[in-house]
Amino acid sequence: MESEDSDFIWLRLDGQKRLATENYVEGNTVYGEKLYKKSKIEYRIWDPFRSKLAAALYIGLDVFPITHGTKVLYLGASTGTTVSHISDIVGYNGIVFAVEHASRVARDFLDRVANFRKNVVPILQDARHPKQYFSVYGKVDVVYSDIAQPDQTEIAITNCQAYLKDGGYLFLVIKTRSIDVTQSPKNVIQSEMKKLQNNFEIIQDMTLEPYDKDHGLVVAKYHAKG
Ligand SMILES: C[S@@+](CC[C@H](N)C(=O)[O-])C[C@H]1O[C@@H](n2cnc3c(N)ncnc32)[C@H](O)[C@@H]1O
Repeated sequence: MESEDSDFIWLRLDGQKRLATENYVEGNTVYGEKLYKKSKIEYRIWDPFRSKLAAALYIGLDVFPITHGTKVLYLGASTGTTVSHISDIVGYNGIVFAVEHASRVARDFLDRVANFRKNVVPILQDARHPKQYFSVYGKVDVVYSDIAQPDQTEIAITNCQAYLKDGGYLFLVIKTRSIDVTQSPKNVIQSEMKKLQNNFEIIQDMTLEPYDKDHGLVVAKYHAKG
């Protein structure tokens, strides 16, 4: 099986179905991922055990609003594994504003990802204070949040209110253990979704097993009020 679309590609390698994105920086790797060449185009294999967005694509997403030219605000860039694949996808006309508050992690992020990719704007800030991101201009199409904090949903909502366009999408990764260790992951996701009911239409929710047992993902459409 080999199916293709403009955003990412499914390949069959060594008898296994693999996800890949077209490499924005030829020859460059970010986290030890394999490179693969097909019809003179270089792809990076996207590992679902290393990236929760890849895991969600393997499990099956109903919408994938990230494509060439998309503007993304990404909270919790870490060392840039997932940011780098989003950067591949949005390409030369898109942009990824990538927020990370831990300076040591951010240094690795600059060395591995941001310094090589013109479509990635690193923002060394606390996502709790979105008004302090001076380099974000205009509204974004997608807010992707993966910050593993007990108040992760509230932080994501504040960022959407500041920067997400009406009709844009929130991808909210929920670290189920960060919130309440006594609750089942499904219950934690349900109670986090309730916090979104005022401004968002829930499109999909999922746990990320078997790729990741501590996280879930909620995809929601934003309806700005007023
Ligand atoms: C689970 S990791 C993100 C992994 C990354 N999204 C990926 O898939 O490659 C969470 C990151 O969020 C960052 N983080 C946590 N709280 C934050 C905050 N309030 N503001 C900005 N970054 C934060 C942490 O430093 C950490 O690097």
